[in-house]
Amino acid sequence: MRTARLTLDGNDYELPVFEGSEGEVAIDISQLRAQSGAITYDPGYGNTGACKSDITFVDGEKGILRYRGYDIADLAAGCQFSAICYLLIWGHLPSAQELARFRDAMRAEALIHEDMKKFFEGYTTAAHPMAILSAMVGSLSAYYPDVVTDDDLDRNIIRLLAKSKTIAAFSYKKSIGQPFVYPRNDLGYASDFLHMMFATPMEPYAVPPAMAEALNMLLILHADHEQNCSTSTVRMVGSSGANLFASTSAGISALWGPLHGGANQKVIEMLQRIAEDGADYEKYLALAKDRDSGFRLMGFGHRVYKNFDPRARLLKSAADKVLEGLGVQDPLLDIARNLERVALEDAYFVERKLYPNVDFYSGIIYRAMGIPLKMFTVMFALGRLPGWIAQWKEMNDDPNNRINRPRQIYMGQTARSVTPMDRR
Ligand code: ACO
Repeated sequence: MRTARLTLDGNDYELPVFEGSEGEVAIDISQLRAQSGAITYDPGYGNTGACKSDITFVDGEKGILRYRGYDIADLAAGCQFSAICYLLIWGHLPSAQELARFRDAMRAEALIHEDMKKFFEGYTTAAHPMAILSAMVGSLSAYYPDVVTDDDLDRNIIRLLAKSKTIAAFSYKKSIGQPFVYPRNDLGYASDFLHMMFATPMEPYAVPPAMAEALNMLLILHADHEQNCSTSTVRMVGSSGANLFASTSAGISALWGPLHGGANQKVIEMLQRIAEDGADYEKYLALAKDRDSGFRLMGFGHRVYKNFDPRARLLKSAADKVLEGLGVQDPLLDIARNLERVALEDAYFVERKLYPNVDFYSGIIYRAMGIPLKMFTVMFALGRLPGWIAQWKEMNDDPNNRINRPRQIYMGQTARSVTPMDRR
């Protein structure tokens, strides 16, 4: 067996080494504390493998992203998002019959319980749709609490996928004070979502095929990304035995942050600010390089990708196509392109290997589709749902799963006593 040797205070410890199917090397330190009393220290978990997984492979140096072995570019060219959900969650691309059954099951679950509509009444129209989504998804567990068999779980998985789409669209309708539009059984996932967003009780909405196609691709590109912040959150919460809805709700909250899925909203806010300030993108590049400015180039940089983000490449070319297909001209797209061009030539960004990430161009496409800014991170969440579900399920199916419980190195006060003076 291959091992690594660690020497600590003159003592040698042999640590098992294993390899993943793509040759990634891991040193198994799970027994290190029991053997030596020491733990490892890795803030931000940049070097910590928290699980073994069969779902998604990312090679950040080579810019590779694969779901269950399939390259993301292959999947994004022509697959339906529902087939990708199936692939991620159940491990293989569905046959025509499996896909038809899965779609029928999702359609049957697309409505939310009528009582849940009352929840929306409690929010102001200013409520951020991510706050609503996370609360509503957590609340689904109040309606579908019992999972005894694998079939129960499969039904809850389908409910989560189908009802989140309806909740997301309803949260938008709430924000603009319009009545909810119910799902339609004759539409695919992306088209149905757009119908619920843009139809009104007075007027149906004919979903432009270019828009449905673009949304389908965006959802696929966001569908999983191994152990990112929100997915690790879903696994962390789920490791305690928390149900699928509760764990996913936590993942939605983690995704909301501007350093993660919230970046897609922040990118557009940044581009708007630059546009209003005379499109002087060089000035903002300088600000991003100045640590004291507190300004970062949103949509740039990634913990794993150090060469390029394959999703950003696909989205950059899709942005041109979609805007043309929809007949939309957006000055923010030019600013984004210029910003990317100068950043990629700048020593600061080159040395730190900072490239556009998935959020850099996705917002431009959402804007062209008429999706409002506050909904951008919700769109990301809808796309990421199958990944969270697949990872939660994989963890629960693993007989070696233990509650996640990192350690710490305590750096605070050593033991001291409360004096009589302190007792007030
Ligand atoms: N603009 C300017 N400088 C940056 C940026 C940026 N967007 N990103 C990283 N840097 C700099 C840091 O200041 C740091 O510089 P230093 O070495 O001089 O201290 C160096 O690059 C490394 O950055 P870290 O923050 O240590 O990298 P980390 O891996 O922890 O963070 C992250 C990755 C959060 C994505 C970061 O690049 C960032 O904040 N980007 C902007 C927000 C964003 O787009 N997030 C979406 C990520 S994709 C996703 O979650 C879907």
